[in-house]
Amino acid sequence: MSAAIRGRTIVITGASGGIGEAAALRLARAGARLCLVARRADELTRVQNLVRALGGEAWIYPTDLSQPAEVEACADALLAEHARIDVLVNNAGRSIRRRVTDSFERMHDYERTMALNYFAAVRLTLRLLPGMVERDDGHVVNVSSLSALMPTPRFSAYVASKCALEGFSRTLAAEMSGRNVAVSVINFPLVKTAMSAPTAVYRYLPQMSTDKAAGWIVRAIETRRYRIVNRFGEAWNAATALAPDPTVKWTGHLFRVVGARLQRRADRDAAPEHEA
Ligand SMILES: NC(=O)c1ccc[n+]([C@@H]2O[C@H](COP(=O)([O-])OP(=O)(O)OC[C@H]3O[C@@H](n4cnc5c(N)ncnc54)[C@H](OP(=O)(O)O)[C@@H]3O)[C@@H](O)[C@H]2O)c1
Repeated sequence: MSAAIRGRTIVITGASGGIGEAAALRLARAGARLCLVARRADELTRVQNLVRALGGEAWIYPTDLSQPAEVEACADALLAEHARIDVLVNNAGRSIRRRVTDSFERMHDYERTMALNYFAAVRLTLRLLPGMVERDDGHVVNVSSLSALMPTPRFSAYVASKCALEGFSRTLAAEMSGRNVAVSVINFPLVKTAMSAPTAVYRYLPQMSTDKAAGWIVRAIETRRYRIVNRFGEAWNAATALAPDPTVKWTGHLFRVVGARLQRRADRDAAPEHEA
């Protein structure tokens, strides 16, 4: 068991399902004390029971992280009930898949993604970081997406909120560079969860399992590396930085062609079968 995890108090947001739940179970097996945050109390209790069945310890904090007052109350409870918070994993997130041209009257999409994916993570970090700085020991892990490293049509609200989180993380990491407080960003590719399920075309694309994604969170905590990403993300990030014009144009074209082909396939598969 890793010393970075065993006996450490780790807060995971979005722990009632998907990647957050899988990460909670992996971290429980490695001996972490877990604080589980999400909106659905019943699902948090279910995950808490799974952690206990593994011999682990978990506390639940039902919270709507898109509401600033609830984030503050959650931080108050975490700080009151635990002597120290060692690791904060800002994992809760929401995604919206919609073209900008279909969003002219949907400013709220941009506000909703920022409220959860960016402001909630920053607010929780601002409350839990002081203890980490004071003890000169801590780690903030921010969950981002591969889409924040490349041009990704249809995801402007989501990608912008993840890019904001990346900007915050990069600055914080630089400020913490002389201290024993680490900052990590995880750029997940497509993962098979409730978030990706509604998009029919994703079923034809490779999707990482939640258990493997949880392994990336464990790797971030153990290695304390700044970025956890695959080769594909690294390459696309480099291409976007080195040759932005062709990369943006070429990616837009690729998404149009491949997206249309996959959509036709999804429509065909969804159509009721005709009798001969
Ligand atoms: N799935 C992918 O393909 C993919 C790819 C790249 C990055 N990511 C990122 O990975 C992270 C986890 O995503 P996932 O795929 O595991 O999604 P998921 O299965 O939809 O789970 C999202 C989690 O966030 C919680 N949550 C949602 N809104 C919340 C709110 N207002 N307040 C508190 N908690 C809230 C949900 O719990 P409640 O409903 O109980 O609140 C749930 O536990 C997200 O940051 C996402 O952007 C996912």
